Amino acid sequence: MGKKIYSAYGHIKQLAEEELKGLKKAGVEAVIKMVPETLPEEVQKKMHIAKFDYPVATVDELVNYDGFLFGFATRYGSAPAQFKAFMDATGQLWFTGALKGKVAGVFQSSAGAGGGQESPALTFMPHFAHHGIAFVPMGHHPHLSVLTEARGGSFWGAGTLASTDGSRQPSTLEKELAEYQGEQFGKFVNRLQ
Ligand SMILES: Cc1cc2nc3c(=O)[nH]c(=O)nc-3n(C[C@H](O)[C@H](O)[C@H](O)COP(=O)(O)O)c2cc1C
Repeated sequence: MGKKIYSAYGHIKQLAEEELKGLKKAGVEAVIKMVPETLPEEVQKKMHIAKFDYPVATVDELVNYDGFLFGFATRYGSAPAQFKAFMDATGQLWFTGALKGKVAGVFQSSAGAGGGQESPALTFMPHFAHHGIAFVPMGHHPHLSVLTEARGGSFWGAGTLASTDGSRQPSTLEKELAEYQGEQFGKFVNRLQ
């Protein structure tokens, strides 16, 4: 199992770590990797983008995994351009049908509740369709019915709200959703063996 993330300030990184716990609960072997950064160093500095220790994924290694969980730090209601660049480099894999039959899920982070808890998932679907990768949604969990506190996450996948300045950190409820998604996704992958 490969987990690909793009996280500028650590929110998606934290959710990815919860997803990993869930995957492990399901008995799945999984790794967290970052997609390559595409912004110039100078822009990264201005944006105060953090550096994380996770290894950077290569397109060629995608064939080695049964499934992928993609973690999106929302950009303008969509997945980050870094993901688009990564997927745009998979032409050879598409041509040979190398990713056909694999499975994918997504989780996301946005500043606000209406800012991208569903649209990054929705707008990324063509990548999966064109590759013949089956999308596995998170589906319902009782936490999604909680309206007494601010929360990210949707039927598409777990999520967190970072606030405009990035100061809000993933809540217990959001982390539990991420772990739940990881476990459900892991169980799904196991059924494919
Ligand atoms: C260029 C840019 C565009 C963004 N667009 C959105 C957006 O459309 N909606 C939203 O809620 N947040 C938006 N954000 C906020 C990010 O989604 C937020 O910083 C991110 O989810 C935090 O996750 P991270 O710490 O893992 O990077 C944007 C941030 C940047 C830098």
